[in-house]
Amino acid sequence: MTILAIETSCDETAVAISRNGREILANQIFSQADLHALYGGVVPEIASRNHIIVLTKLVESALDEAGLQKSDLDAIAVTYAPGLIGALLVGVNFAKSMAYALGIPLIPVHHIRGHIAANYIAYKNLEPPFLCLVVSGGHSLLVDVRTYTDMQIIGTTRDDAAGECFDKIARVLNLGYPGGKALDDLSQSGSPTVYTLPRSKVDDAPLDMSFSGLKTAVLNLIHNADQKGEPLDREGLAASFAAAVSDTLVPRTMEAARKLGYHNICVAGGVAANSRIRRDLEEAANREGRTLYLPPLSLCGDNAAMIACQAYFEPKPGVLDNLALNAYATMSL
Ligand code: KG4
Ligand code: ZN
Repeated sequence: MTILAIETSCDETAVAISRNGREILANQIFSQADLHALYGGVVPEIASRNHIIVLTKLVESALDEAGLQKSDLDAIAVTYAPGLIGALLVGVNFAKSMAYALGIPLIPVHHIRGHIAANYIAYKNLEPPFLCLVVSGGHSLLVDVRTYTDMQIIGTTRDDAAGECFDKIARVLNLGYPGGKALDDLSQSGSPTVYTLPRSKVDDAPLDMSFSGLKTAVLNLIHNADQKGEPLDREGLAASFAAAVSDTLVPRTMEAARKLGYHNICVAGGVAANSRIRRDLEEAANREGRTLYLPPLSLCGDNAAMIACQAYFEPKPGVLDNLALNAYATMSL
């Protein structure tokens, strides 16, 4: 089955083509990051308008990359939730039109299910059940992936997502947008023990997380140093912050795997590219004799390959079944 997928939930316009779920024939991404960097964050209106401008061209490029014609496609997949509503609507309407014009089914895909599916592309033999730590700009979740489509959230952040904190702190340190990667790079030459930062716990919910206290502590530290004219060890702060985030994520991930009795642990989402978190997860998994699946950096951030992959496992609709599909800014897994 050959599926063309469209992903426009945030500021990447992406189109990919998969064959039988795990083989990616084309993977096109147009990142709008430079357009939004000017404003220090994603401007939803600008994201929607640029999705409109580049989508048609990106679909053509994906078909060229795969060496296919539109008539070779068996289905169109699209991210319909969660995300920026205007941005999602562009992708959903484009996908609906394309499916209708070609007379093929339209498969709606949840963005987070897509992130999890990035692991199926990287690891061809991986199958549920497994535990997945999902860490992105908008989500920090521990997910019990029971089957390809039956998933339950067993831990979540009570406030900010991990990626949000990386971006906010990077912004205050003038590292640009999105700043997670830049903050990760900065931390490479710093010591993680320079600053003592909080690791929050949520009462009576050992798998839940909280990052807002950590974020505020780091922002206060930067502002205080600035106001008093004291020097700031930027590299040390970046390393200390990454260590605090990792200390929040890694023990909960291991605890969740123990609770569920799962040998396999996967990681997904943009923050899964973080070097400190990857290293700590690898060490912890080795220590406990569990197998860790880390997607390559190219599949951690937003892309359409993961959507094309997950679409293969979603229920197969009829040709006219999903033409009334809407987009949703929030939606549970
Ligand atoms: O999954 P994603 O591409 O988009 C969402 O669905 O949100 O994740 C984007 C997030 C941003 O917050 C970005 O700063 C963060 O992933 N990120 C990183 C790294 N690379 C990307 N955070 C920490 N370390 C990185 N190396
Ligand atoms: Zn994402």
